[in-house]
Amino acid sequence: MHIRNIESRDYQPIISVLDEWWGGRSMRDMLPRLFFIHFRDTSFVATDHNGIAGFVIGFLSPTLSNEGYIHFVGVNPSVRGRGVGRALYEHFFDAMRSARRYIVRCSTAPFNTVSVAFHQRLGFQAQMFDTLLQGIPYSPDHDGPGEHRVLFAKDL
Ligand SMILES: CC(C)(COP(=O)(O)OP(=O)(O)OC[C@H]1O[C@@H](n2cnc3c(N)ncnc32)[C@H](O)[C@@H]1OP(=O)(O)O)[C@@H](O)C(=O)NCCC(=O)NCCS
Repeated sequence: MHIRNIESRDYQPIISVLDEWWGGRSMRDMLPRLFFIHFRDTSFVATDHNGIAGFVIGFLSPTLSNEGYIHFVGVNPSVRGRGVGRALYEHFFDAMRSARRYIVRCSTAPFNTVSVAFHQRLGFQAQMFDTLLQGIPYSPDHDGPGEHRVLFAKDL
């Protein structure tokens, strides 16, 4: 497996599998091409002999000078559980450290129990929650009515 910075040319192959990788959820509107153009220094693609094995879209906060944010992470279902997601996050963490930033944030839907488990294993902790869904802490209506989010943070 090889990991490199993301490129604009990665948009089409990723967007064409995005909804499938998310189990049929409609995700495309949340990942416009601009992320593949303006956040290349902090976004990464993992490739193997079959093509794109996974990707992470992250950026350095323009406002919060010690923080970075991971917007999306996805791994091909055929290679999940083999460390691809962790390796992609480690690349983003290295980019953060190089920029002298030490707080990483991201959010996920509380019903996405795999994503919640993944982030917890990587050392993220839920912040600012006031509600529990089957033991998972989340911020209700964070991104609009019914759009609950687990707000994760990790110190590097
Ligand atoms: C979440 C996702 C990116 C994880 O990628 P992955 O490559 O399978 O994860 P890794 O193999 O690197 O696992 C990293 C850690 O998370 C844990 N983990 C991964 N999948 C898990 C699962 N299904 N259940 C419990 N823990 C899990 C692993 O045990 C591992 O811990 P360890 O390294 O201490 O052993 C992948 O499942 C995915 O693409 N899901 C669909 C998209 C999505 O929901 N993205 C997140 C929201 S934006």
